[in-house]
Amino acid sequence: MRVFLRVVLISIAAIVIASSVAFSSNDQNKGAENIEMEGGKRGKVPFPHRQHQERLVDCQTCHSVFPQKAGSIEELKSQGKLKKKHVMNKLCTKCHKETKKAGKKTGPTTCAKCHIKGKS
Ligand code: HEC
Ligand code: HEC
Ligand code: HEC
Repeated sequence: MRVFLRVVLISIAAIVIASSVAFSSNDQNKGAENIEMEGGKRGKVPFPHRQHQERLVDCQTCHSVFPQKAGSIEELKSQGKLKKKHVMNKLCTKCHKETKKAGKKTGPTTCAKCHIKGKS
């Protein structure tokens, strides 16, 4: 039993080390430069992905909420694992309002500046 446990622990440690090495590599997939997000009835939302990566640096600011995979937000919403408008309210608009308040250059905070009417 002891030997078995030790083998299991060593295997787990090996996996953790291997994955942290993989994540810290520089040729990480950064995804698309610009993304057009689904915005429901209000219309699509153009999102300058690369600009945010360069400005914010930490990928986890957004990707702790949804994985680095195209369509992941809509997928999670349809599975009921992510509330509708959660990304909009708790990430996009929240940050833009906070940075605006701090007097810094930021993104839109009003509906029509993010959502493109007639494009849904
Ligand atoms: C300000 C928020 C935000 C930050 C910061 C961010 N991303 Fe994303 N990322 C998104 C959104 C939104 C999507 C689209 C998800 C969807 O389609 O549902 C996405 C999608 C992706 C995808 C898959 C889709 C594609 O474009 O091919 C990859 C890969 C990705 N991001 C990598 C990264 C990496 C690496 C970083 C950090 C260097 C990062 N992202 C930082 C918001 C962000
Ligand atoms: C900073 C950009 C931004 C602003 C400002 C913004 N939205 Fe959004 N909105 C998004 C994004 C991104 C999504 C898709 C992700 C999500 O559902 O959280 C979205 C999704 C939505 C959805 C669809 C939700 C669903 O799944 O059915 C509606 C409806 C909506 N927004 C309405 C509004 C209204 C009304 C306003 C103004 C009060 C507004 N939005 C302002 C970016 C924005
Ligand atoms: C943690 C902060 C943060 C989050 C989260 C964030 N943004 Fe931004 N956004 C910024 C800042 C800062 C700028 C200004 C960047 C610059 O001018 O270089 C910006 C700029 C923008 C712009 C204007 C780009 C331009 O140059 O005209 C759009 C559009 C935008 N954001 C959309 C979004 C959407 C949609 C989301 C959610 C998926 C989002 N942002 C999430 C901080 C954030």
